Amino acid sequence: MSEQHRQIHFAAHFPGVNQQTIWSDPNAGSQIEFESFRRFAEIAERGVMDYIFLAEGLRLRERNGEILDLDVLGRPNTVSILSALAAVTKHIGLVGTLTTTYNEPVDLARQLRSLDVLSNGRAGWNVVTTTNAFTGANFRKGDHLPYPERYLRAQEMISALEQLWETELGETTTLDSRYFQATATQTLPASPQGRPVLVQAGASGEGRDIAARNVDVVFSMFGEFAEGQKFRTDLDERLEHFGRNAEDLKILPAITLAIGDTEAEAQERAQAIRHAQVSGPNAIYFMEQIWGRELGGVDPDGPLPDFDPVPPTHATGRVPHYGDVEERTALVNQWRAESEAKGLSLRDLAVREYGRPSLVGTPEQIADEIIRRVDERACDGFTLVGDIVPDGLAEFVDRVVPILQERGAYRTEYPENATLRELLGSAAAPSVPLETPERV
Ligand SMILES: Cc1cc2nc3c(=O)[nH]c(=O)nc-3n(C[C@H](O)[C@H](O)[C@H](O)COP(=O)(O)O)c2cc1C
Repeated sequence: MSEQHRQIHFAAHFPGVNQQTIWSDPNAGSQIEFESFRRFAEIAERGVMDYIFLAEGLRLRERNGEILDLDVLGRPNTVSILSALAAVTKHIGLVGTLTTTYNEPVDLARQLRSLDVLSNGRAGWNVVTTTNAFTGANFRKGDHLPYPERYLRAQEMISALEQLWETELGETTTLDSRYFQATATQTLPASPQGRPVLVQAGASGEGRDIAARNVDVVFSMFGEFAEGQKFRTDLDERLEHFGRNAEDLKILPAITLAIGDTEAEAQERAQAIRHAQVSGPNAIYFMEQIWGRELGGVDPDGPLPDFDPVPPTHATGRVPHYGDVEERTALVNQWRAESEAKGLSLRDLAVREYGRPSLVGTPEQIADEIIRRVDERACDGFTLVGDIVPDGLAEFVDRVVPILQERGAYRTEYPENATLRELLGSAAAPSVPLETPERV
């Protein structure tokens, strides 16, 4: 009798916001034309995946008027792409990243419900608070919200959307909270899944609480085995605190892939992908987060800057993901010693440090590793990030997915008319009521 495995879930991430995309590869297609998105969706649906995922960068990153090659110039808006994909796909979920800081609830609720209705219950919202202060320049307020306020607003936004989504067609509801005062009439019916699936991608305590209290999936950055298990344990405790079942929150860390006929070939490929992903400007961008300041003029292929990191400022909007200034200075000093001993450039270090967690090996090795991680609850599957657009995941779908299916760890076909929440196999979290502040 075959072994019983926990069921694996996959999301397919169309890259383009951040460093994963390899622009220079001769096989890379357009990042902009709809045909790329259509082909990408077709591959993900052939792989029977739960959903397609689009990130969001509302403002392109630039330095001295030059746009960094981390971001795509020319990409259409997320909800428009996903709505178009709803027409050319049948089963797969469609998840878009939309910020709680720079949107208003009535409009956001309508956009997401429209996608949910058009796709017959396949929509999802990746709830982000936006880390980059420079995004504020696009908006009337022209500034970013301080960190704790971003999370208060995020919880209010989720509660407000739930209240709006629970309002019957033609019924009117009033939002009255710290950030939102509005009266709106429901203009759309509910989709078969009731309300869109919620995804969240933040690692702080505040971000984790938002996830445990409200959402269906966490798009995590903890893609290694031990850190994944630790993250799962932490979220399990938070879920219990909020009275939720652990199985109702799926964790799908971002992961890149390097597949080879032999392990050696896969390792070589992983190294080549990493180098191509971390271009000189990308290396500088990463290192600016460590130094907490702009590094324009620094040669990525030269030695490390001889000045020390500084605390991040509100103006740069760089979050201290990499520790406070003392921790980052200690890290830089350690790198200086290594760089001198081994002749490593700033970019060599960025390639080593910045590379996303990867699954590297033969198709059998990768399948074994995915099954092990899901069975041992380091995650529930992965958000797969191909290195090349749009065909980067085709090899995974054709060579790894069939092994997972043979071993009974992954679905072989979509259930008829399933909503995205049914594909995930989870129950929605109870709504968190919008709190009205006391007013004098
Ligand atoms: C894996 C991952 C993906 C993310 N994707 C986006 C994104 O596409 N757009 C965005 O504005 N923020 C994105 N973020 C940033 C988060 O929304 C959040 O603002 C950031 O992680 C800081 O939150 P934290 O303090 O809870 O970690 C992402 C974060 C993670 C960890």
